[in-house]
Parts: sequence; structure tokens; C-alpha cells
Amino acid sequence: MIKAFLFDLDGVIVDTAIYHYQAWKQMANGLGFDISEEFNEQLKGVSRMDSLDIILTHGGIELSQEEKLALATQKNENYLNLVSKMSPEDILPGVTDFFAQVKKENIKTALGSVSKNAKLILESIGMSDDFDAIIDGTKIAKGKPDPEVFLKGAEELVVLPEECLVFEDAVAGVEAGKNGGMKVVGIGKKEVLTQADVVFENLVGVDIHELLAQIN
Ligand code: G6P
Ligand code: MG
Repeated sequence: MIKAFLFDLDGVIVDTAIYHYQAWKQMANGLGFDISEEFNEQLKGVSRMDSLDIILTHGGIELSQEEKLALATQKNENYLNLVSKMSPEDILPGVTDFFAQVKKENIKTALGSVSKNAKLILESIGMSDDFDAIIDGTKIAKGKPDPEVFLKGAEELVVLPEECLVFEDAVAGVEAGKNGGMKVVGIGKKEVLTQADVVFENLVGVDIHELLAQIN
């Protein structure tokens, strides 16, 4: 029986995924190459330093650890600049209604994000109090597709992995949920999130009872 919902942040609750992409694209352009939206799919849910390594390999560029840290810091500054004007209006369609249902049904909730900026983003959209547990990039050693972030969420909520339902927009994130022995709702395109148990374009009109009937 599902007792808890574990939510990714970027691309599920709020559309910061686009800002991560823009900031990485800007960095890549500065290095003399480009990254496409299709390429960006593999960066979703992946930690900052792992994303940087994937991008540099793509551009055929080798750098020292020091240079990489400088680039990652610069990318994060650009990203923070892009998200600095976020407000509750940036919450993705369907999320607020869905959380109202979650509360009514007494389902436990955790945030499971690899982002070190997760708390800041939650504050800016006014959703800090909507989660019973918050696991972010400052609390984990391994990024998605490792299941650590979701297993820690389950642990903090005192539920078993099989009692959790993960909500994810990233290929790596869907894999992380699956690797943790959890059921996964994909948010995005069916053709991309092939491992998810069920896929919705977004949370608009998603009914918890119907969803749980579909999952079980
Ligand atoms: C999320 C995003 C990734 C991002 C990662 C780290 O998982 O989907 O695109 O790279 O968080 O984010 P951070 O804010 O710590 O750089
Ligand atoms: Mg995401």
C-alpha cells in the first residue's frame, strides 16, 4: 500500500529545469560549443559536478579540478540569477491542487532533490511547509540514478520503499526510484520516461484515487 509520495523538485514542482539548461548552455557557449534540448535530457536529475563532466566530455574539453570548480560556481551564480525572481506563480500547473488532495488523504510527503538550491527554491515559491521531510543535495553523497535521495526520504518518513510513490521528470530520477524498489510516476513524455509505471504530461487533473488504483 502506498503511504508516501516522494517528489522531485526541478521539473515536477517548479520549472527550474529550463533555468538549469539555460545556465549550462551559456557556460558551454562560452567554451565554444552548444548543447541541445535533447542532450539536456540526460542532465536532468544529475548533480552539478556530474552534469559538468557530461557537458565537458560532450564538448571534448579536459580541465583541472580547480577549473571545473570555477565553472560550476559560475554556472550556479548564473542559475541563481535566473531563479532569483521566482514566486508562487512559478509553481507548475496542477501542483497546488494535487497537494490539497495529498493533505486531505493524509499521505506523507518528502522532497527528493539532488539540488543544493532546493530549500531556497521552496522558500521562493512558498512551499517550504508542504513537505514532511526534505532531502536535498546537501544531505546525499550520490546523485540520481542512485536511489539514495529517495531511500533517505522513505527513512525520514518511516515508511518502506515499496510504500512510496516517486514523482519524477528525469530519466535518471525515474531510474533512481526504480533502483530504490519504488513505483514511479513520470511527469513529461512517455517516449522519454519509458521506465515509469505511469506518465502524465503534468499534474493537472490527476486524481489521487484513480492514480493509486492505476499503480497498484
Ligand atoms: C536537479 C536538476 C539538475 C541539477 C541538480 C543539481 O537534480 O534536475 O539539473 O544539476 O539538481 O542542482 P544544483 O542546484 O545543486 O546545481
Ligand atoms: Mg527533475
